[in-house]
Amino acid sequence: MCGIVGYIGYREAFPIVIKGLQRLEYRGYDSAGIALFDGNQINLAKTKGKVEDLKNKAKEISQKGTIGIGHTRWATHGVPNDVNSHPHYSNSGELVIIHNGIIENYEAIKQELTKRGYTFQSDTDTEVLINLIEEVQKTENVKLGKAVQIALNQVVGAYAIAVFDKKKPDEIVVAKLGSPLAIGIGEGEFFIASDASPFIEFTNNAVYLEDEEMAIIRLGKEIKLRKIKDDSVAYPRILELQMNLEEIEKGGYDHFMLKEIYEQPRAIKDTYRGRLLANQGIIRMAGIDLNMEKFLNANRIIIVACGTSWHAGLVAEYIFEDLARIPVEVEYASEFRYRNPVITDKDVLIAISQSGETADTLAAIKLAKEKGAFVFGVCNVVGSSIARETDAGAYTHAGPEIGVASTKAFTTQITVLTLMALKLAKAKGVFSESRYHEYLTELETIPSKVEKALESNTLIEIIADVYKDSTNCLYLGRGYNFPVALEGALKLKEISYIHAEGYPAAEMKHGPIALIDEHMPVFVIATKKGHYEKVVSNIQEIKSRKGKIIAIVTEGDEQVRDLADHVIEVPETLESLTPLLTTIPLQLLSYHIAVMRNCNVDQPRNLAKSVTVE
Ligand code: F6R
Repeated sequence: MCGIVGYIGYREAFPIVIKGLQRLEYRGYDSAGIALFDGNQINLAKTKGKVEDLKNKAKEISQKGTIGIGHTRWATHGVPNDVNSHPHYSNSGELVIIHNGIIENYEAIKQELTKRGYTFQSDTDTEVLINLIEEVQKTENVKLGKAVQIALNQVVGAYAIAVFDKKKPDEIVVAKLGSPLAIGIGEGEFFIASDASPFIEFTNNAVYLEDEEMAIIRLGKEIKLRKIKDDSVAYPRILELQMNLEEIEKGGYDHFMLKEIYEQPRAIKDTYRGRLLANQGIIRMAGIDLNMEKFLNANRIIIVACGTSWHAGLVAEYIFEDLARIPVEVEYASEFRYRNPVITDKDVLIAISQSGETADTLAAIKLAKEKGAFVFGVCNVVGSSIARETDAGAYTHAGPEIGVASTKAFTTQITVLTLMALKLAKAKGVFSESRYHEYLTELETIPSKVEKALESNTLIEIIADVYKDSTNCLYLGRGYNFPVALEGALKLKEISYIHAEGYPAAEMKHGPIALIDEHMPVFVIATKKGHYEKVVSNIQEIKSRKGKIIAIVTEGDEQVRDLADHVIEVPETLESLTPLLTTIPLQLLSYHIAVMRNCNVDQPRNLAKSVTVE
């Protein structure tokens, strides 16, 4: 939530910061702002709205300067308006800050600063922080870096900040706790950003700050890292980035979401590339190999995640229990961390997160580690906080996911989790050789089957047109496809703002069936493998109450075709792999309905891609 960008070097900062903000807009898009230093003074523009609105607003200021910081906001404290937008000045007007995170004890600090004569323009915690830094500078008579370090020891909360002081115009001070912060290192220039996408065309070298680290970024000097707690020296680890520009652009698609839906065959292949050697009967996963005993001796696996990643966790529960015969519990990370869970050193916790930055998931990991559990991460973003915080892990290798609605993250998470379950099933000896080989071979066919599922796009567009004005929708599935029903409903509600509910199909008669009438579209996953006859009975119950049935069926199915108003076919596969296919039409349906309703598909209202606040 919130994206921050900064530049200090020899180029004009304005276009770099603006373009960087556009790339980070997925992190929040309530409001945006920029501050530039022209060698003489700070010129600042900020506005409610998107970076496009900021570009207009910035016409009112001088856009000159080779130092700049910018911010795109997802509001936490204070409504999204011009005043609450970042950057924020200190009272003297000499310091300016951008901040991603929350300062929890800001009220107490604000009261104290008010007593000392400080005034505040905005309702934000960030304006309090910059004035605290200024107060420390004055009372302790220290330079910016030291003042930031002292001030941060007085705050409780999470932050990735960049601070500029007019009196020290050759440096920017940055610090991190809980929110991500990357520094791109070029020749005679530095970039600051919440992720590497704003500077990928300028440099492949980056330093990711660890929690409780700060850096003084000074022109013509090496960056200096320090520990916030005690001001001791820390040493930067320079990473070579693998990301390329193409991956973060739309590549001819109207929206990132559509591009990412279509990327799934490639993304799934990338996920198992080098891991799945079907003809040799091998699954290579170093994170599992090195910790096999922990998994095999575990009393149970606890999966924690949020949103779509939680749905992938629910699919994994079926996979691990069904294939590897290991008991699994799946928890919302936000609930887990606050309910005093019983965790022992015999538990293995798997944290699933696309961004690797979700605050609740991170907190759940920390809790599990404190209680002695072994923690394994399934993340997409390389070097993310969760990837670093876990004991071991496996990346999904889906490539950057920029559309706020998660698509390829879901299918690649399921792919990784399936590989893990298969590997454990083999090691436990609960799988026959022939069944194991059948799974490995079938998994290799999934990318081409996803391609096939994508071919229904035109039909799905027609169906979307029929139901685009619905106000409510139901999604039903059983077994492995119950979580897919939940995910289908989430996709629809988050991008088209149509109320949608996912249910296990058999639960219908315990309440939700009362909702069914001729206006209610019901999306039912009714693939041949997996409680098919039972789902057909559920479809009949809906039909006899005049509900509209849109069924996702296995290729060639005739029985459901006779009952349903519309059918969308997916290729046949093993039951536990069906979620990788059945989810595709539901993603496309939500996408087309949202486009037809003129919704902002990639940046749905009130949401942000990476939820770094609890
Ligand atoms: C929905 C969606 C969210 C995320 C959730 C967790 O489309 O994107 O529900 O799945 O915020 O995010 P990560 O996976 O980054 O932890």
